[in-house]
Amino acid sequence: MPSNVIVGLQWGDEGKGKITDLLSKNSDYVIRYQGGNNSGHSIHVKNHRFILHLIPSGVIYSNVKCIVGPGVVVDPQSFIKEIQDLESMNIDTSKVFLAKRAHITMPYHRLLDKYQEEILEDQSIGTTHRGIGPTYEDKTARMGIRVLDLLNFKNFYQKLKYNIDFKNEIITKVYKKEPLVFESIYEEYIEYAKIIYNRIIDAVHEIHDAFHNKKKILFEGAQAMLLDINYGTYPYVTTSSPSTGGVCIGTGIPPNFLENFIGVAKAYCTRVGFGPFPTEINNEIGDVIRQKGNEYGATTKRPRRCGWLDLIALKYSCMINGINYLIITKLDVLSELKTIKLCVEYKYNGQIIKCFPANIEQGIQGVYMDFPGWEKDISHIHEYEDLPENCKKYIKFIEDYLNLEILLVSVGSERNQNIIKNKYSFFKIFA
Ligand code: GDP
Ligand code: IMO
Ligand code: MG
Repeated sequence: MPSNVIVGLQWGDEGKGKITDLLSKNSDYVIRYQGGNNSGHSIHVKNHRFILHLIPSGVIYSNVKCIVGPGVVVDPQSFIKEIQDLESMNIDTSKVFLAKRAHITMPYHRLLDKYQEEILEDQSIGTTHRGIGPTYEDKTARMGIRVLDLLNFKNFYQKLKYNIDFKNEIITKVYKKEPLVFESIYEEYIEYAKIIYNRIIDAVHEIHDAFHNKKKILFEGAQAMLLDINYGTYPYVTTSSPSTGGVCIGTGIPPNFLENFIGVAKAYCTRVGFGPFPTEINNEIGDVIRQKGNEYGATTKRPRRCGWLDLIALKYSCMINGINYLIITKLDVLSELKTIKLCVEYKYNGQIIKCFPANIEQGIQGVYMDFPGWEKDISHIHEYEDLPENCKKYIKFIEDYLNLEILLVSVGSERNQNIIKNKYSFFKIFA
């Protein structure tokens, strides 16, 4: 059975949650491989809106096993709240599991994230303040606390004591803030341990067994390619590897388990937080897109910066991720516009740039091709042939530029607002 990966190709919020939910129907497993509760994945099903931060977007289907994988960083408070919220909406969460090897976000991670951002002032990243960066820092510094440590209170006590003593030095001496109190944090986390212990599994063996038993596995990326720690717009990135290479690192599978690499991109671009954004629109058209697309962060509620679709960046993302199928979301959001622009080159210091540069500068500008808009509502359309001609021309240009097949076009936030463009491939992968 093929294992499929869903990955965001821009700066996050491409609609991965909606697409993962849609494609989960015929999956046995949906597995998150990186990131933490910095994500906000929205799913709309018949007037119900679910926003998932840590739990994989397959959870709405009760037949799907959902694993928060070893490469994820888990804030237990957030995880437990998410479980409770889902249960209060009558969603069965009995098949949600946590990997033993996943690292835990602690209160000091959230504080250090916030303090560091404050001290950096105009050099700050604009993080979600969820403590994600500091949790991954501790992981690589080899002082992190893992989910499995919650199963052994004596170990947990020692590791937490060491960490809090260490962090209090930084909190009081560097940031000049109040120290943390060990006992209350210890007790808080012991309570979390009691709630989640029966969801803790050895995910590596579970996933390998599933693969050998020919189960259908969907790996769900969080954040997106241009926020990747290695290949994104560094330093304005997150601290994990959302790109498809991160699946192996984050779940313990070898690369040859993976077959279909499905990239999700919006029909335009958005970005939350700071950092370069060559196609950003700083006029009322940007505001129209923000309003029509409801471009406000699912996690932090911040307004998202909006811009034209950047084909240079998208081509780069498809290349790094080995994308063989593309999904375009939110095409309906562009329906009102008279003219739609596509960025096909960059210009910097009077020079044309055709590839995504490693040192993408704030001053880099997009060079555009103009496309006439279709100026018609397309949100009810289900067949590709029924789309307005100008809309098809826009899609065709993207396909040709990227030399990639578009599998599906999403035209609304509801689960059924989709146009399956390539039915043969779609049903081959997801039947
Ligand atoms: P994710 O982080 O990639 O899962 O994306 P988010 O959930 O943060 O943001 C995407 C937003 O767009 C959510 O509110 C979705 O419900 C919504 N959405 C997804 N696909 C479409 C679409 O095709 N059209 C419209 N109008 N909204 C969509
Ligand atoms: P989903 O999964 C959009 C951004 C933050 C900030 C940078 C670093 O919903 O697509 P962090 O808290 O990770 O250290 O912040 O990354 N960011 C996201 N932007 N969608 C996300 O997740 C994001 N997760 C992090 O805004 O610029
Ligand atoms: Mg999101």
